[in-house]
Amino acid sequence: MKRICFVCLGNICRSPMAEFVMKKLDTKHQLEVESRATSNWEHGNPIHKGTRAIFDKYAIPYDSKKRSQMITTKDLEDFDVIIGMDEQNVRDLLDLSAGHFDDKIALFREGGVPDPWYTGDFEETYTLVKTGCLDWLNKLGS
Ligand code: 4NP
Repeated sequence: MKRICFVCLGNICRSPMAEFVMKKLDTKHQLEVESRATSNWEHGNPIHKGTRAIFDKYAIPYDSKKRSQMITTKDLEDFDVIIGMDEQNVRDLLDLSAGHFDDKIALFREGGVPDPWYTGDFEETYTLVKTGCLDWLNKLGS
């Protein structure tokens, strides 16, 4: 069982979207999936209503108790693959890794996923997240 972690700035928009989209796509239950933030800005806060609206619209089950949580070095140790949703997230993850876990850290997709916190376009986020998760599932699944 591979343990994977999606990571974005706030852990309320993009990375929880990727977490629960991936859990739905992973019908063979090949992955353990979680998500984290690179910042503590939203610590303890629930998933953004824009992301929850996408879950409802596309019938994606999610944990309504999920709260924003900042990534730690212990997480870098524990997860097999740590996936930053954009280039800045990857740079921040590499800073935290300080050379110890660099080979586990990857970018979600070329060009990253624009932050809907700023764009307001959660549909665009969903399109990119769904395609990206399918690619990752093909890469990581058996
Ligand atoms: P996320 O979006 O990184 O996709 O969860 C953001 C959420 C909150 C903030 C920025 C981005 N913020 O500035 O609080």
